[in-house]
Amino acid sequence: MELAQLTQDLETLAAETATALAGAPDVASLDALEVDVLGKKGRLTGVLRGIGALPVDDRPKVGAVANRVRAGIEAEIAERRAVLGSAELDARLAAETIDVTMPGRPFRHGSLHPSIESMFEIARIFGQFGFVVHESPEIEDDLTNFQDLNIPPDHPARDLWDTLYVDIPGHLLRTHTSPGQLHVMRTMQPPIRALLPGRCFRYEAIDASHGSEFFQVEGIMVDEGTTMGDLRGLLDEFAHAMFGAGKRTRFRPGYYPFTEPSVAFDVECLVCGGPGCPACGRSGWMTILGAGMIHPVVLRRGGLDPERYQGFAFGMGPERISMLRHRITDLRLFLENDVRFLGQFR
Ligand code: DAH
Repeated sequence: MELAQLTQDLETLAAETATALAGAPDVASLDALEVDVLGKKGRLTGVLRGIGALPVDDRPKVGAVANRVRAGIEAEIAERRAVLGSAELDARLAAETIDVTMPGRPFRHGSLHPSIESMFEIARIFGQFGFVVHESPEIEDDLTNFQDLNIPPDHPARDLWDTLYVDIPGHLLRTHTSPGQLHVMRTMQPPIRALLPGRCFRYEAIDASHGSEFFQVEGIMVDEGTTMGDLRGLLDEFAHAMFGAGKRTRFRPGYYPFTEPSVAFDVECLVCGGPGCPACGRSGWMTILGAGMIHPVVLRRGGLDPERYQGFAFGMGPERISMLRHRITDLRLFLENDVRFLGQFR
């Protein structure tokens, strides 16, 4: 092996590597090229293996050429790597762009059921007058749902509250929230101001205004010297908060066995405002609840002395309130769970 030949081989390697580097398309092929040329078993090492066959004096000369070639290749690779690396980064940045101005994906919000929304609103308004929400059971006995509310077994008013019976003798699904009045009177001392929202059940022929399952909100106030005037004033405030300030209201004689006297509470028709239209049966009024002064029999069954305490009670259907407020014409919509209906009450 001659010095000239080896030197020539080294220059050839340098030239070929430079050509290959110029054509390397990406960082990965650059890495492969580096191993191929400068690696432990690479082409440079291969060429230098010939040094051993040279005269001792010539060896440093080849070594010097080899070092220059190696340094040159290393510098070229580094330079090329920098160029290719930033080009790849640019390409990735362009490909993975995030447009932060794009609108987000909308969440699907749930919404309160209109019956519940209505009950919350009723509770909010009466809450401002000191009424506190209480729970009462959905399964009652005949005594509490009827007899203690002054509806004896043979009373004709029972026809209004025909119900569904459960497998425990004498027990039934409550037909109204009024039995809750008795639970409240038995557990609290006057002054009592309680609100009893809850589900009720009836054996009904279902139509646009009757359901076998619906909600009611009962209210009860008992104290010394509570009058019908207090009831009237409170219900007026409620009607104005719920349906609009300035709406006219009226008391109309009514009948309930558990109140004496009993009234129906009407608000001026929310559609026509008075003259009469199909929505109010041409009367100009819409009935929103039943109420009255608690019957002495009921106070006594609740454990209170009617000589000392008086009170009033009222009961309303939150679905009916909701129907009046939103002009809904069919009660059945409330139980069909059709999101096209339910989603309108955000
Ligand atoms: N419980 C009655 C019903 O279901 C509603 C009612 C009327 C409740 C008058 C009352 C009341 O507290 O005083 O039809």
